[in-house]
Amino acid sequence: MTSRPRVGFLGVGWIGRHRVEAMLATGAIEAAAVADPSAEMAAEALKLAPDAKRVGGLEGLLAERLDGIVIATPSALHAEQSIRALEGGAAVFCQKPLGRTAHEAAAVVAAARSADRLLAVDLSYRFTEAMRRIRRLLEEGALGSVYAVDLVFHNAYGPDKSWFYDPLLSGGGCVMDLGVHLVDLALWSLDFPSVEAVSADLLSGGARLRDGQVEDYAVANLTLEGGASVRLACSWRLPAGREAVISAAFYGTNGGAALRNVGGSFYDFTAERYRGTATETLASPPDAWGGRAAADWAERLARGERFDPAAERLVDVARVLDAIYGRA
Ligand SMILES: NC(=O)c1ccc[n+]([C@@H]2O[C@H](COP(=O)([O-])OP(=O)(O)OC[C@H]3O[C@@H](n4cnc5c(N)ncnc54)[C@H](O)[C@@H]3O)[C@@H](O)[C@H]2O)c1
Repeated sequence: MTSRPRVGFLGVGWIGRHRVEAMLATGAIEAAAVADPSAEMAAEALKLAPDAKRVGGLEGLLAERLDGIVIATPSALHAEQSIRALEGGAAVFCQKPLGRTAHEAAAVVAAARSADRLLAVDLSYRFTEAMRRIRRLLEEGALGSVYAVDLVFHNAYGPDKSWFYDPLLSGGGCVMDLGVHLVDLALWSLDFPSVEAVSADLLSGGARLRDGQVEDYAVANLTLEGGASVRLACSWRLPAGREAVISAAFYGTNGGAALRNVGGSFYDFTAERYRGTATETLASPPDAWGGRAAADWAERLARGERFDPAAERLVDVARVLDAIYGRA
């Protein structure tokens, strides 16, 4: 029997530690090392992975000649760290967003392609049972021709860590944080149609976004090839009357389907199918989806998988974000 892939974890804050747990639970990988400038965070991670050792930064991980590196650092660091990890010969599982721009995301994908290493991003909502059911309906053509998609992600708290509010560390506000999931869900569900036009309004603190700020409210309209219309709204700290409002609704010539959060929850989702005024429930909580993307990468790495061309699509999502930010 060949040995399990040795994996290192770069950034073991809140989500990084969750993903350590999810990957170890598969039994597919060995957690060999962790790196985080915070001694406290590293110590917490070592409680989850007692066989791992703490090393100094990405350099320390690269010196371990690991099979894979899991990146969960502040968003603006992802692209450069992913590229260095891939060039060092490791497969990469990176938190979203892969890059701040399509240019950065494309550079990471190019590095993965040229190193022939597995690259995946933690687009975790794809792995909810609710989204899987909806995507299956779309693949089967059960909704007919989809002409409208309505995407919402309001986080009524907003992030609790200061780096999210610093554009140099976050790369952007609620669009970079939450909108990326919505754009990915729409494009992935519809099998990555081309996006013909994008318009957006970005606000911060109730006024138009200015340089040096990150947006905390965004509305965007995307026109897809064939004319289908995608409407996106996301925010931090909206007085939404609940913790979160999350939905992805698809409307076609033969009916609709939507993922919706339940009771303001960040974790509980339903999938519903609509026929006129009738609603059928396709999926409902509980569903332990949070670590599934991470577990999937770990298992694929253990199977010896190399570069997956599906990673190219990550650039399509980043391109839409560029357009929302007016950079395209
Ligand atoms: N996939 C998802 O649904 C999802 C959910 C939450 C967060 N995220 C993403 O995960 C990332 C981390 O978010 P978080 O909430 O865990 O933040 P966090 O602040 O809790 O964790 C970041 C960690 O990175 C460490 N760090 C900073 N610079 C570093 C460096 N140069 N090298 C190594 N470690 C470094 C920090 O000390 C901290 O422990 C963000 O990019 C965020 O967008 C994704």
